Amino acid sequence: MRYGKEFFDRQLRFARVVAALAAIPLEQALLDYTNLYVRFGLGRAFDQDHPTWRRYIQGLSQTTHASDWTYSFYLAHAQAGRETPLVATFGCFSYATPDSQSIRLHFQNTDTATVSPLSIDRLPMRLSELRALFDHVRRYEPEAESVLGTSWLYNLRAYQRLFPEAYIASATVADNRFRNMSLWGQFLDRNGGLKVGFTEDFLRRLSKTTTVRELASCFPLQALAVSAPITQFHTFYDSAM
Ligand SMILES: CC(C)(COP(=O)(O)OP(=O)(O)OC[C@H]1O[C@@H](n2cnc3c(N)ncnc32)[C@H](O)[C@@H]1OP(=O)(O)O)[C@@H](O)C(=O)NCCC(=O)NCCS
Repeated sequence: MRYGKEFFDRQLRFARVVAALAAIPLEQALLDYTNLYVRFGLGRAFDQDHPTWRRYIQGLSQTTHASDWTYSFYLAHAQAGRETPLVATFGCFSYATPDSQSIRLHFQNTDTATVSPLSIDRLPMRLSELRALFDHVRRYEPEAESVLGTSWLYNLRAYQRLFPEAYIASATVADNRFRNMSLWGQFLDRNGGLKVGFTEDFLRRLSKTTTVRELASCFPLQALAVSAPITQFHTFYDSAM
C-alpha cells in the first residue's frame, strides 16, 4: 500500500520537535524517532551510514522543501524491500519467525472492500484468514509454542475480537516504538491516507510537550505487546468455525 504524503509530514514535524527537545541533530531524530528508514525499504539495522539513508539526509540538507523531498524519496524507494522478512501471508495477516519457538503476527490492510477491514461485516473474512494462517503454522512450524504481537491495534475492540482472550489480556505497553508502524500506524486509514482527527490530537499534544519523556504520550494510543501459547489459537480458531 502506498501511504499519503501527510503521513510523512507528521513524522518530519515530530522529528523537529524531538531534535529541539533532546538537543540532537535532526538526522538522528529522523533515524531514531520516525518510521522513515523502514519506509524507505532499508530494513531494520537503522544504520546511519547506509548509502541510501545518506543520500536522503544529504538531499534534505540541500532543500528548502523537506516535505516534498521526503515524499519523493519514499515513492522512489518504497518498493526496495520489506521491513520484516515474512514467512507467509493470508489476506491481511502474515507472520514472521523471530525464532523456532515463536511466530510474530503482522497486519496490513489488503482488503478491497470499501468498509473497514476491521468492521463487523469483514469479521468472518478476517477470522478465516487467521484460521488459514494457524493451519499453516500447525503444519509448517511444528516447534512453534507461542504467538507474539506488538501494535497499537491491540487497543481496538474491533481488532481484539479476532484473537483469543488470553492473548489480549497479556497486553503491556511496549516502550520506545517510535521507529515502528506499531505506533505510527494509528494515523493511517484503510487506504493509506491520514486520519485527520487523530493527527490533530497528536499535534495538539506535541505542541504542549516540553520534555523528551513526554513524547510517547503525544500518541493517542500506545503500542501494546501481547503473547500467548499457540495452543490457545488453535482452540480459538477451531471453535470459531
Ligand atoms: C487498521 C486500519 C486499516 C484502520 O483504518 P480504517 O479501517 O480506515 O479505520 P476506521 O476508522 O474505519 O476504524 C475501524 C475501527 O477501528 C477503530 N479505530 C481505527 N483507528 C483508530 C484510532 N486511531 N484510534 C481509535 N480507534 C480507532 C474505529 O473506532 C473502528 O472501531 P469500531 O468499528 O469499533 O467503531 C488502518 O489504521 C491501517 O491500515 N493502519 C496501518 C496498518 C497498521 O497499523 N498495521 C499494524 C502494524 S503493527
